Amino acid sequence: MSLRALIPVAGAGTRLRPLTYAVPKSLLTVADKPIVGHILDGLQSAGIEEVVLIVGYKGDQLVEYVRNAYPTLKLHWVVQTEAQGLGHAVWCARDYLDGRPAVIVLGDTLVELEWERFLGLPQNAVGVKQVEDPRRFGVITLQDGVVTGFVEKPENPPSDLALVGLYLILDTLRLREALEELLRRNLRTRGEYQLTDALELMRQSGSQFYPLRVQTWYDCGKVETLLETNRHLLHRRANNPELPHCAVIPPIYVAPTARVEYAVVGPYAAIADGAVVRHCIIRDSIVNAGAYLEAVLVEHSVIGARSTLRGSFQRVSLCDDSRIQ
Ligand code: UTP
Repeated sequence: MSLRALIPVAGAGTRLRPLTYAVPKSLLTVADKPIVGHILDGLQSAGIEEVVLIVGYKGDQLVEYVRNAYPTLKLHWVVQTEAQGLGHAVWCARDYLDGRPAVIVLGDTLVELEWERFLGLPQNAVGVKQVEDPRRFGVITLQDGVVTGFVEKPENPPSDLALVGLYLILDTLRLREALEELLRRNLRTRGEYQLTDALELMRQSGSQFYPLRVQTWYDCGKVETLLETNRHLLHRRANNPELPHCAVIPPIYVAPTARVEYAVVGPYAAIADGAVVRHCIIRDSIVNAGAYLEAVLVEHSVIGARSTLRGSFQRVSLCDDSRIQ
């Protein structure tokens, strides 16, 4: 039976404010498309045809984007009215935990993965990566290649293997039971219902989980990491177009409907649909759709959709040996 994908995207993305005052985190552009678009491309490449979005904060925008950009996907959505943690988010989609296998991918998780291999595994599996400071993550312990414990944001991590936000669940009915138990017994960690805690309940009642080590895991949680992810993705997804009266320093991505002229662009500039960039120097930055930039020098920046950033040229008469800095 073919897999269903569940994508929780209900969070408010507070660490990305003010950008997320206007759009949900998963709709922020990285390289050539929004974060959720990169996730859906990976899933579609492995044959996923049905997706359940778990929406909350600005959920209408997400549903609209996915419906328009991925018209062939069979799309469902459920609403998590209050972000009470990832376990609660997945519980909100419990009607889709009906025995059919599912893959859960967090809406801000970008990984480089052989999707087909991961989704074809004959057992429950979780994506993991070694990290330097596991205390911010869900962490697993392992023995003989099988997960022997799940713990969320431990103060004293029992290993350095962090959950990256990618879960293949074959026993979806058991996951549903575990989530219902979490809510019934009000089991929270750090005030939230955690998916990690539900997986631990499943494990304790006999489900086995296997780790899949992910080599590349991109974070999109903060502006700095969003830009870092943009830099990585541009190495593969740049289009480096010829632009009128511009100097292009690859890698860059400029959407076909963006207008860029009289500018120095790159390295690492991503300019989305309908944006206008004139007389600028722009590097290591993301310009979202419809933004207007004129006569500015921009780096390490993210410009929200339809924003205007306009500088000016100076008119000066400067006597010899002057210094203005
Ligand atoms: P995060 O905790 O990283 O996202 O959750 P956030 O809460 O939106 O961001 P900050 O911490 O406020 O900056 C990881 C993923 O899980 C989803 C989020 O939308 C994100 O895709 N999530 C998290 C939910 O859908 N519901 C929740 O209750 C919590």
